[in-house]
Amino acid sequence: MVDLSGKSLIITGGASGIGRAAALSAARSAAKLTIVDLNEAGGRDVCKQAQALGATAQFVLADVSRVEDVKAMVSAVVATFGRLDGAFNNAGIANANLAFTDIPDEIFERMQAINLTGVFLCMKYEALEMVRTGGGAIVNTSSTAATNALPNIAEYAAAKSGMLGLTRAAALDLGRKGIRVNTILPGATRTEMLLAGMARSPGLEEHLVSRQPIGRLCEPDEVAAAALWLLSDEASCVTGICMPVDGGLSIL
Ligand code: NAI
Repeated sequence: MVDLSGKSLIITGGASGIGRAAALSAARSAAKLTIVDLNEAGGRDVCKQAQALGATAQFVLADVSRVEDVKAMVSAVVATFGRLDGAFNNAGIANANLAFTDIPDEIFERMQAINLTGVFLCMKYEALEMVRTGGGAIVNTSSTAATNALPNIAEYAAAKSGMLGLTRAAALDLGRKGIRVNTILPGATRTEMLLAGMARSPGLEEHLVSRQPIGRLCEPDEVAAAALWLLSDEASCVTGICMPVDGGLSIL
C-alpha cells in the first residue's frame, strides 16, 4: 500500500467503481478524503465506509461539469482540511453505444461537458489551490478508448483522447509550480459502468476479455492502485504520463 497518510485528497466519482475503490484504499492509507459525486446516497455510503476504516472523510455533492460546483468542491476541501495535496479526477459517464452517424449532437456535447470539460475545470481549480500551498499531484482517468478503437464509442473516445493532450500541456505548464499531472488509461474494468454496458450487450464481456492479454477484466482495486501511486510521493519525478492500466491491451 502506498503512503498517503495525512494527504488531503479529492476523489471525483467516488461513489462507485474505480473511484470508490480508490477512496477506500486511500482511507486505509490514512488520507484525508473529500469524496465527490452526483450520486449522493452512494457517496455518503462510501464516506461512512472510509470513516469506519479510520480516515477523516467528507462527502461533497457536485456535478463536475458545473464550474460553480467545482469551485465549491475545492472551497469545501480548504474549509475542512486547510489545503489540497492531490486529486483523482475520475468521474465520468459511459458512451451511448450509438453508431457514429446516429450520435445526437446534444449527446456528443454532454459527453464533452462531463468527461472532458469537467476534468479541465477540476484540474484548473485544484491547481489554483495547489499553487497557493506550493504544489500537489493530479491524476485523471482516461480510457483505452482513447488509443484503441471500439465500435459505437466515438463521443466517449473523443473526450478521453482530449484528456491526453490536456494532461501533457498541464504537466508542462504546472511542473515548475510543483504540480504533477498524470492520467491513467484503464482497460475494461469490472465496475457498475461496465456491468451495465455488458448487461445491455450480450457477448461484450467475452469480447473485452479476449482483447486483454491477461485474459480477464481488470478489477477496480487494481486500477485504483495505479492512480494512488501516481498521487503519492513515490511518483515524485513522474509527470505528464498517460499510463495504461489495461491488462496489456495497449501492447497489441
Ligand atoms: P462508475 O459508473 O462505477 O463510476 C463513475 C462515477 O462517476 C459514478 O459514481 C457517477 O455518479 C459519477 N459521475 C458521473 N457523472 C458525474 C458528474 N457529472 N459529476 C460528478 N460525478 C459524476 O464507473 P467507473 O467504471 O468506475 O468509471 C470511473 C472512470 O473510469 C470514468 O471516467 C470512466 O469513463 C473510466 N473508465 C472506466 C472503464 C471501465 O471499464 N469501467 C474503462 C476505462 C475508463
